[in-house]
Parts: sequence; structure tokens; C-alpha cells
Amino acid sequence: MTVQESCSLIDLKDVWTTYEGASCPVIKGVSFTIKAGEFVVIGGPNGAGKTTLLEAITGLLPLVRGTVTVCGKGVPHEGTTVRCNVGYVIQNFDFHPFTPYTVEEVVRMGRYGRIGWFKRESKEDFEVAQDAMRKLGIEHLKDELIGKLSGGQQQKVLIAHNLAKKPSILLLDEPFSNLDLITRDEVSSLLCQVCDSGVPVLMVSHAFDSLPDRDIRVLVMQGGHMVLDSHSAAGNVADLIRSVPVAG
Ligand SMILES: Nc1ncnc2c1ncn2[C@@H]1O[C@H](COP(=O)(O)OP(=O)(O)O)[C@@H](O)[C@H]1O
Ligand SMILES: [Mg+2]
Repeated sequence: MTVQESCSLIDLKDVWTTYEGASCPVIKGVSFTIKAGEFVVIGGPNGAGKTTLLEAITGLLPLVRGTVTVCGKGVPHEGTTVRCNVGYVIQNFDFHPFTPYTVEEVVRMGRYGRIGWFKRESKEDFEVAQDAMRKLGIEHLKDELIGKLSGGQQQKVLIAHNLAKKPSILLLDEPFSNLDLITRDEVSSLLCQVCDSGVPVLMVSHAFDSLPDRDIRVLVMQGGHMVLDSHSAAGNVADLIRSVPVAG
């Protein structure tokens, strides 16, 4: 699956999803399309359904209604294939201190979807992983157990894992939340490079100071609905989101 194969890399049509045991849907009738090279920020209040939306895109949740197509594959049906090709930096990670994997191992695992079952990692796979660690400035941590690192260091490892994946689409859920200011700028510039290479970046964030200086597509969720789909210069994203009336 490559970027060139499809113009619309993410396509949602009238998507409704819910969690098992929940009394009502969490995502309600959301439709949008994302194309190669778009830099998208999803905003909106806590509990609006932003994380749930990313989970629907990655095929982690069943759909009550509607369709989700990612790189031409339908989810959740073809979720496994989709997850091999989509980078997803999750919001709530919590590694036990004795999680038995080093930083380097976690980053190299980013290649597994591309290597395939029962095949050996190639020199290129190894080098892509090393390059991802270098880009995040975590080579010196490579032999540390991931569970013994700080939240910010773990977040860098998860970003490196997903860069090593060389995804067709990169989803990130509040990726700046644990990062210091300098690292935020560095990650922002890395995401810009990813986007310039044609890979759309779709990010839930409230850290608007850390957005790269480029045209940003802004999606706003409220109560499970998509209430805004617009474009803004990076410096105006916060004001744009503030200007959206809160539904009563
Ligand atoms: N695993 C879950 N099971 C049941 N309800 C959930 C689960 N995760 C989230 N929710 C509910 O779904 C709604 C949206 O949550 P979420 O997508 O995490 O919001 P956001 O990311 O916008 O803060 C909230 O009401 C939340 O309580
Ligand atoms: Mg969330």
C-alpha cells in the first residue's frame, strides 16, 4: 500500500461508533476525507470523542453505522493490514517498570509489520530503526528498559517506533503532552518532514504553540459530532478553535 495508490488516504462516511456496554454512541455521523500531504489537527473539549475517532480509523472499534476506508482498505475488517501501514502514537500509555523490552527493541518492533512473519530483519530494517532513534535523540537510551524511563522519554520512544514503521499515514494522540519545549519543536519539525514526504499527519492536540508553521486543516469534535472542518495558519489555530460555539 503506497501513498500513490489512493488520493483519499482516509475516508469516513457517516461513521457511528460506540464502546461495549456504553448506553449511546460516542462518534455520531462523522464524515471526512484526508489526502496525501495534509497536516490535520483535531481539537475539541475533553471527552468529545477525539481518541475514539482515531481508534475507529485504526479499526480498533466496531462501527455501528457508516464506513471507514484507510488506504483503500475497509476497517475494522481489514484492520490488521491497516495497522501495519498506519502509525499511531497513542495517548494513554503506561509501561510497567519491568516491561521486558529495551528502547532499541521497541523501536525495532516498528518494522515488524513490514518484515512479515518468520522473516529476518534486514540491514535496512535495522538502519531505519537506528535512524528513528537518532531523530528523536534517544540513542543513548537504547539499552534501557522502556518502563524505567520518564513519560516524556517513553513518548519519544513511541514516536520513534512509529517513524521506524515508515507509515502511509501518521496518527498521533496528544504527542506533545509529555515533551519539553525544545523536544516539541524538534518533533514538530520531524512531523513537518513526514507530511512533506506525502504522508498525512493527523494529530489530536491542545499544544497549539508547537504546531509547524504551515497551513493546518483543523477539525473540531464536540459531543461526538464533527462541528468544524476548516483551514488555518498555525498561529491562528487556537483562536479558530476558541471561536467554535459550544453546543448546549
Ligand atoms: N474504553 C471506553 N469504554 C467506554 N467509554 C469510553 C471508553 N473510552 C472513552 N469512552 C468514553 O467516550 C467518550 C469520548 O472519549 P474520548 O474519545 O477518549 O475523548 P477525547 O479523546 O476527546 O477526550 C467519553 O465520554 C469517554 O468516557
Ligand atoms: Mg483523548
